[in-house]
Amino acid sequence: MAALGLELRGPAAIVTLQRESRRNAISREMLAEFAALREPLLSNRCLRAIVITGAGSSAFCAGADLKERLTLTHSEVQALLRAYRQDLGWLDTSPLPVVAAVNGVALGGGLELALLCDLRIAAPEAVFGLPETGLGIIPGAGGTQRLPRVVGEARATEMILLGRKLTAAEALAFGLIHRVSSSAEALLDETLAWIEPVLHGAPIAQAAALEAIGAAATTQLDAGLELELALYDRCLVSDDRQEALLAFAEKRRPEFRGR
Ligand code: COA
Repeated sequence: MAALGLELRGPAAIVTLQRESRRNAISREMLAEFAALREPLLSNRCLRAIVITGAGSSAFCAGADLKERLTLTHSEVQALLRAYRQDLGWLDTSPLPVVAAVNGVALGGGLELALLCDLRIAAPEAVFGLPETGLGIIPGAGGTQRLPRVVGEARATEMILLGRKLTAAEALAFGLIHRVSSSAEALLDETLAWIEPVLHGAPIAQAAALEAIGAAATTQLDAGLELELALYDRCLVSDDRQEALLAFAEKRRPEFRGR
């Protein structure tokens, strides 16, 4: 892979956007590489989380590759937006928790990429924004749909219509991110320390929790409560649930195996 780097750190897969000279902007090649990662990452039973970050200290991701866009026809851009959905969409529905470690600016598609993740942590210098309307377009990789679901309609409207950019501290106050690291250098280590409960937790329960939470925004309450019970049943019959009860009785830390 050229546009993405992949490093396994114990049970965490670190995926790094590495087009630093273009501020890690998303090219067609990068999209294809994201699509290609789906199967190997999701079928690796040793993995417990995927962390997405950007190379360098300036940008997490500056959004779509605007230089590439300049060379594309309208129908190629339309196809590209469909590809965004297909090639990145699996991050949103991944049973493995996905974490954005936002090391710098996350603009346009960069913020939309972070919005596909379950958890978001950022370096103090990170900046968040959806500047598309200023470029004569609208966010086309889920921004108009996912941002209001995360921060509420009023705040999303301000960010999308006025192009308001948020500092990491403001993004934290908006509920757009969960945490700010103590420094850019410490971001990755602090990310891994923060998600320790995921890295050593019970994967079947975590996947079930993500599926249930993901359904909450689009499901009627009764249907959502039914889904919750069905997903609970999946955990109930797992070896990991038995292991947790045994470990509690034996006053030790459980060893979850994802079975
Ligand atoms: N697509 C393609 N190239 C990009 C890019 C993008 N989205 N964003 C930055 N680059 C390129 C620049 O053109 C520049 O290339 P050059 O050295 O050949 O001129 C290089 O990355 C560095 O950019 P620069 O602006 O000098 O870096 P910076 O650190 O001062 O600022 C940004 C970084 C991301 C804040 C700034 O480049 C920017 O605002 N980019 C556009 C982001 C945007 O509007 N995204 C939404 C797309 S819908």
